[in-house]
Amino acid sequence: MNGEDQYLANLYQRFPVEAEKGKGARLWDASGREFIDCMGGYGVALVGHCNDRVVQAVRAQAEKLITCHMSLYNRSRLEFLQKMASISPKGLTKLFFSNSGAEAIEAALKFARKYSGKPGVIAMNGAYHGKTFGALSVTYNEKYRKSFMPLLEGVKFVPYGDSSKLEGAIDDTIGTVILEPIQGETGIIVPPDGFLQQVREVCDRRNIVLVFDEIQAGLGRTGRMWAGQNWNTTPDIMCLAKGIAGGVPMGLTLAKPEIMDAMKLGEHSSTFAGNPLACAAGSATIDALTKDKLVENAASTGRAFKEGLLRLKDKHKIIRDVRGLGMMLGVELRFEVKDVLLDGINNGLLMLYSGRNIIRLLPPLVMDEATVARALEIMDTVLTGEERRRNVS
Ligand SMILES: Cc1ncc(COP(=O)(O)O)c(C=O)c1O
Repeated sequence: MNGEDQYLANLYQRFPVEAEKGKGARLWDASGREFIDCMGGYGVALVGHCNDRVVQAVRAQAEKLITCHMSLYNRSRLEFLQKMASISPKGLTKLFFSNSGAEAIEAALKFARKYSGKPGVIAMNGAYHGKTFGALSVTYNEKYRKSFMPLLEGVKFVPYGDSSKLEGAIDDTIGTVILEPIQGETGIIVPPDGFLQQVREVCDRRNIVLVFDEIQAGLGRTGRMWAGQNWNTTPDIMCLAKGIAGGVPMGLTLAKPEIMDAMKLGEHSSTFAGNPLACAAGSATIDALTKDKLVENAASTGRAFKEGLLRLKDKHKIIRDVRGLGMMLGVELRFEVKDVLLDGINNGLLMLYSGRNIIRLLPPLVMDEATVARALEIMDTVLTGEERRRNVS
């Protein structure tokens, strides 16, 4: 491609596209080739590429003040905090700023340990929470972990969806349970009904801090503002990142006040935290989600998308399963997805993967039904080609 690889650590699976420009749910390369973007920057392009509200807010803020350490006060930050408070789950009234998902998780692990006074954590089989040492310690995949042992001590993994196994793993050392309300990286795994409520009940009864990682599933992605709302469950700590600032890096750890109050001055911090540029972009993102009704759009357009995928499943034997909620969808194939993804690119559709055989779709919430219909047409073509190559009929 364009020569970047010569300078970069070889750490990402890369696709042969040089993205030059984006608007809404579309991307273009330098030659003007257009793509429907169901990769959505791994979920970061939540309110669409170059969302007008975000672009205007960033432009205006950049001309005023870009950096402002947390040791000073700032109007852009206050506005963001007020907007965030207006959409936050009930009771999660205190917030810590960072700059990425993994950092939001690191903060959550420290806050929960400090408050509970216990080092042990229960995480889920299949969990993905990031790759810094703390986040990696609660991430399940052996491939990511094995070269970096020892990780944090006292972490136990239990099956996702089984609250009695979770309760059975609790001992005197456990102070925290962490989970994704829908697992993203591991293949769009929706928990069985009742699971989140049962975990909430166990954590209340056993006095354990419950952390929801809503980094991928939160902020309207599933058709509700918070993925936990799909099962009427609120955690004690919630982590956000990805699309919260329209593409500008930001991580957030929200918590109940008594948990945040356990932390002493200076016990956690970040130099870029709460910078005015990210806060302005974040306020514009919340406006887009609420005023432009993007959460509602994620529910209705996501439903149409899933129905279309289920029709493709009826037609294509290569599809084993279709699952997900809102604009967080997974299509499990019977074979590796690599060629399907590359063929998608050749036909103007960007898709994401989960593991070897799952197509993950994280389209911007601004995507309309006509674009979904076109994406489904391209998937139909690409899957037909793949079945021909593999002699599946
Ligand atoms: C659920 C979840 N948690 C945490 C992370 C880590 O976020 P980041 O890559 O910004 O560190 C991700 C990233 O994909 C994620 O999907």
